[in-house]
Amino acid sequence: MTDSSAPTVYVETYGCQMNVSDSELMLGKLSAAGYVPVDQPDGADVILVNTCAIRDHAEQRVLGRLGELKRHMKKDSVMGVTGCMAQRLGPQLLEKAKHVSIVIGPDGYRALPQLVDGARRGRKSINTTFDLEEHYEDFTPRRFDKVKAWIPVQRGCDYRCTYCIVPTTRGSERSRKLDDVVRETHGVVAEGMSEVVLLGQTVNSYSDGTHDFADLLRAVGGVPGIRRVRYTSPHPNDFSDRVIAAMAEVPAVCEHVHLPMQSGSTRTLRRMLRRYSREGYMECVEKIRRAIPGVTLTTDIIVGFPGETDDEFEETLSAVREIGFADAYTFIFSPREGTPATRMPEESFVPADVASHRLQTLVDTVRTASRARNMGLLGTRHEVLVEREAKRGEAMLMTRTRDFKTVLVPGDASMLGQYLTVELTGTTGSTFTGAVVRERMPLPMAG
Ligand code: 5AD
Ligand code: SF4
Repeated sequence: MTDSSAPTVYVETYGCQMNVSDSELMLGKLSAAGYVPVDQPDGADVILVNTCAIRDHAEQRVLGRLGELKRHMKKDSVMGVTGCMAQRLGPQLLEKAKHVSIVIGPDGYRALPQLVDGARRGRKSINTTFDLEEHYEDFTPRRFDKVKAWIPVQRGCDYRCTYCIVPTTRGSERSRKLDDVVRETHGVVAEGMSEVVLLGQTVNSYSDGTHDFADLLRAVGGVPGIRRVRYTSPHPNDFSDRVIAAMAEVPAVCEHVHLPMQSGSTRTLRRMLRRYSREGYMECVEKIRRAIPGVTLTTDIIVGFPGETDDEFEETLSAVREIGFADAYTFIFSPREGTPATRMPEESFVPADVASHRLQTLVDTVRTASRARNMGLLGTRHEVLVEREAKRGEAMLMTRTRDFKTVLVPGDASMLGQYLTVELTGTTGSTFTGAVVRERMPLPMAG
């Protein structure tokens, strides 16, 4: 029985998996303080919007949504904005949305219950101080996902890519202690889950002073009951031989790497301050592929970065064709206030119509290549984990292979969290449909 007089809290999350994980921590903290999580904003006592600042579009969406959510507030509801946009805009948010009374950046969630209580008594507050010790170690996350667990292993970022707002919104890089991550992994198994996703802005630069990311993969992959380990997002420069060897040798670590490339042009990469060249990226891909047969790669790419010429964009297209990514998240460069890229000469900025055209060309190039490869996979068999129902009422399940292919198979909610063998029967280009293969008993020997 839930206490019907207990205050309720609704959290809406934008942005990356780190934000999803932070929302789980916030909900955990508020649950421990007596709040009851609800999955609809209507009439919730507390509404929190956990935001992303990575592109202007993400921020505009949130600003629009804050206005919409206002309609769901009761007279005494309070609204808080958390996450990267809260960190970036601070007091400006209270100005932009008068019904918001709490603004908390990514390092400030420890104070959440006090700030929420204060807001319910009419006090507005802003908490955007960085805390380089903060890992929310004593919080118990209230997980949204019942099949795989997001585990933050590192917070902040020490790279300074010239387009990126994250170092400003999440501060300097710090890693959790390996033992703490392993303890959380044991807890995840005890909750009945067998897959973990290790999270960090440049997750493979993980270092707790004693252990590196290779140690972490081995330790987490060795926890009994863990069958799949993924991580996101690595930086190409931090793919040491030790990390690649750990990936290759630990059976639980999945054969998929999401490796942000950003551009296939060395000149663009230099202006982005990515600290690798086209050739350096290709070498990294080669090393990973040599060590891990069958590994698939996905990536992030930005088009229209200041100064990107037609030739430089062509180099991105040729890199995409050469490497053969299974999928790519593609973005038009969005200038973020205060980042070095905004100070590049105005005439170097790529006109919006050129950038849109490049994005379309890039998307087509990625799709053409992946469709051809996916067609060739029809008829092959794979182990999949049932992650969730595809759509309510359709009796279809969304499952994933170890190498991150999405396969829709018939089934019902009772199969969530199960491992199945499926045969790929169709593809829409990016996702597959599959049929469950019943593992047959071997035939009895003749005679
Ligand atoms: N404009 C467009 N895309 C960006 N990304 C990061 N910053 C920007 C920006 N200013 C993209 C990168 C990154 C992904 C998470 O978002 O590709 O890998
Ligand atoms: Fe968005 Fe980056 Fe913040 Fe994640 S870390 S929420 S992607 S700005």
